[in-house]
Amino acid sequence: MPLDLAEVHQIIQIDSELNKIRDYDMLLERILFEARRVVNADAGSIYVKEADQIAIKYAQNDTKQKRLLPGEKEVYPLFKIPIDDKSISGYVAMTGESLRLDDVYHLPEGCPFSYTTKYDEESNYKTTSMLTVPLKTQNNNVLGVIQIINGRDKDGNVVAFTKDDEALVSHFASNATVALQRAYMTRAMIIRMIRMAELRDPKETGAHVNRVAGYSGEIYEHWAYKQGLPAKEIAKNKDSFKLAAMLHDVGKVAISDLILKKPARFTPEEYKIMQTHTWAGARLFDDPQSDLDGIAADVALTHHDAWDGSGYPGWVDPATGEAQKVDAEGKVLPRKGEEISVYGRIVAVADVFDALISSRVYKQAWTEEKVLEEMQSMSGTKFDPEILNIFFEIYPRIQQIRQRYPDLSHE
Ligand SMILES: [Fe+2]
Ligand SMILES: [Fe+2]
Repeated sequence: MPLDLAEVHQIIQIDSELNKIRDYDMLLERILFEARRVVNADAGSIYVKEADQIAIKYAQNDTKQKRLLPGEKEVYPLFKIPIDDKSISGYVAMTGESLRLDDVYHLPEGCPFSYTTKYDEESNYKTTSMLTVPLKTQNNNVLGVIQIINGRDKDGNVVAFTKDDEALVSHFASNATVALQRAYMTRAMIIRMIRMAELRDPKETGAHVNRVAGYSGEIYEHWAYKQGLPAKEIAKNKDSFKLAAMLHDVGKVAISDLILKKPARFTPEEYKIMQTHTWAGARLFDDPQSDLDGIAADVALTHHDAWDGSGYPGWVDPATGEAQKVDAEGKVLPRKGEEISVYGRIVAVADVFDALISSRVYKQAWTEEKVLEEMQSMSGTKFDPEILNIFFEIYPRIQQIRQRYPDLSHE
């Protein structure tokens, strides 16, 4: 069935919006949101293909969201499904064809797949109608699957999806796939930059930077929400900030291997050199036109500055490495409190937490409880107390990000 003009217009508009999003995770979340919106669906999830499985990346559910307090986000289980004909989404990933089901509790006869009621039971939610569409590239590569649940009529009653709905979401999915491939490339380029830094410092792994970016984005979102920033501005800043957070230690490319890989403690001189990775990183991002560059420079420069002024590098000019502000004895003045950009204050919390909780850093891993105690003890000294409070408030989301980006065994 042909789409009407208003629908085509809506899709083109969403398409151009999607093309502005650079961060891969944010794009997935937005694609799911828009796919649900075009057909007025209550819930849905989005999956990405990983080897011979599909992994859930985001789940949204208006009904469950209404049960939460404002600003709260649902924490849903993360799982993977084999690509085969046993499950609905596995089947769609396998065949590359969309699938429209009126009632998953009464599947048409002869279906090879079945519907698992476990998640409905656990969350006290009833899934009925379901539209499952592959995210397929032009050369028929399935990148993932969008699953839209419970269509609603204008009174909010659950209804079946129509053939038109299916056409609309399929059309939308093919545009979304293009945006997704582009965001994937951007992330791949950034990961490559990070690999370069990682070659220098084995502690900066891909999983670590993905986690730090994830924690930072969530902390920022909640902080900005509390500040009353408009939703559009929050989304735009969060997008740039997540990429910037990934690059927090990229200045380590400028530090000698002899120092970075030194197994013993640094001498005071070596420590001084190590500290230059902050402004050396900031120097890489000097395009004043780009908001991403602005935030990336802030993060690289200030992620080791401390709330009470005990951190580094303080008031240094990234272009030259020379002091911008000095005390009576000519020593660089520290940056403290809100002199440190909020982006730097957030990454400080995210980066230290991830280092403490990851067993690589200490021979004997600390328990989660001990790590959280240690974090709390740095409130008002190393960390901005307000940012640290937000970190604790959204801790379930932080744990979920840890789960999403586990350390690979060879790391
Ligand atoms: Fe650093
Ligand atoms: Fe780090």
